[in-house]
Amino acid sequence: MSITVAPVGNSRILSVGTYRPKRVVPNSEIVDRIDSTDEWIVQRTGIESRRFAGDDETVISMAKAACEIALKRAKLTIADIDTVILSTISYPFQAPSAATELINELGNPKAAAFDISAACAGFCYGVAMGSDLVRSGTSKNVLVIGVEKLSDYTDPDDRATAFIFADGAGAVVIGQSDQPRIGQTIWGSDADSRDAITLTPSFLDYKNNPDKGVGELGWPNISQQGQVVFRWAVYSMSKVGLKALEVAGVSVDQLGAFIPHQANVRIIETMAKEMKIPDSVLIADDIRTNGNTSAASIPLAMDRILEEHPELHGKLALLIGYGAGLVYAGQVVELPPKP
Ligand SMILES: CC(C)(COP(=O)(O)OP(=O)(O)OC[C@H]1O[C@@H](n2cnc3c(N)ncnc32)[C@H](O)[C@@H]1OP(=O)(O)O)[C@@H](O)C(=O)NCCC(=O)NCCS
Repeated sequence: MSITVAPVGNSRILSVGTYRPKRVVPNSEIVDRIDSTDEWIVQRTGIESRRFAGDDETVISMAKAACEIALKRAKLTIADIDTVILSTISYPFQAPSAATELINELGNPKAAAFDISAACAGFCYGVAMGSDLVRSGTSKNVLVIGVEKLSDYTDPDDRATAFIFADGAGAVVIGQSDQPRIGQTIWGSDADSRDAITLTPSFLDYKNNPDKGVGELGWPNISQQGQVVFRWAVYSMSKVGLKALEVAGVSVDQLGAFIPHQANVRIIETMAKEMKIPDSVLIADDIRTNGNTSAASIPLAMDRILEEHPELHGKLALLIGYGAGLVYAGQVVELPPKP
């Protein structure tokens, strides 16, 4: 007996939409509590300011705002969406998922919906799944969202993290295409380094100290070994980028833009140098005014670079996400057409 399946099709990013929280937080608001300076933060990371969400800006409300823009730009409504993939590490509940809360808010509570937890690689993991769902015929139109409210999980007194992480949301609609416009994803993990970025105290800390609880162990905050992450990203992620280009049959000079995860300007610049990305390729540096928004950073950076360089609509871009796990994913995509 054979099973009937839909013929393999093609996929593309139809649109992108974002939400940036209202409150701009310059380095000057961060430095006193961590004995730092604006100069040090800018020199080591490139970050000049970031956005922190207020009480009325939740993971769900920010994701909803980004999705509404993406849907409008794709000239679709939520009724056209059959699958929602939401990536986050800062939604505090396992069930029901943030994705189901979101589809209820958006007005299509019947769509397939689930969350993924792949930290700063989450958006590229979502694009991989969204693209393959469309190609296989399982889905027609997929919303892929990266959203974070990391200010809820960052200790303002922690010198290693307080100046890095921030809040925001980005969404893309992935739909059918006449020809391939999303390349094969190169992804994987280096889980032997999973201690390099963690939420501390962890689930195990709570489990091993049943007598203590949140009151004594404290609310979880991100902690990281900055140099371990820096070395891993610089050394390994350019190889992932080159492999993603190779499987897509695209050379670096055919790219319009390089849109890596926005973790650190020095990491971005070193990766670009390692991959010999020519000056003709525009490199996203949304981190300067947005900080590291984990799963949201790539769609936020994509939207910003398209806004500043509208000639990039329809051009090729290399995306690379990487972060806690350690996990990574990269793919070449055609940037969405002009709305
Ligand atoms: C976090 C990061 C900016 C720290 O920079 P670094 O150069 O590695 O800093 P180090 O920890 O080696 O410290 C270097 C010096 O700066 C000081 N320093 C550390 N944090 C500081 C801060 N927030 N402000 C001012 N000085 C600081 C240290 O005390 C040390 O001083 P010393 O030379 O007098 O001993 C950098 O490691 C980094 O960006 N790593 C990648 C993190 C990342 O991207 N994470 C997310 C991935 S998804």
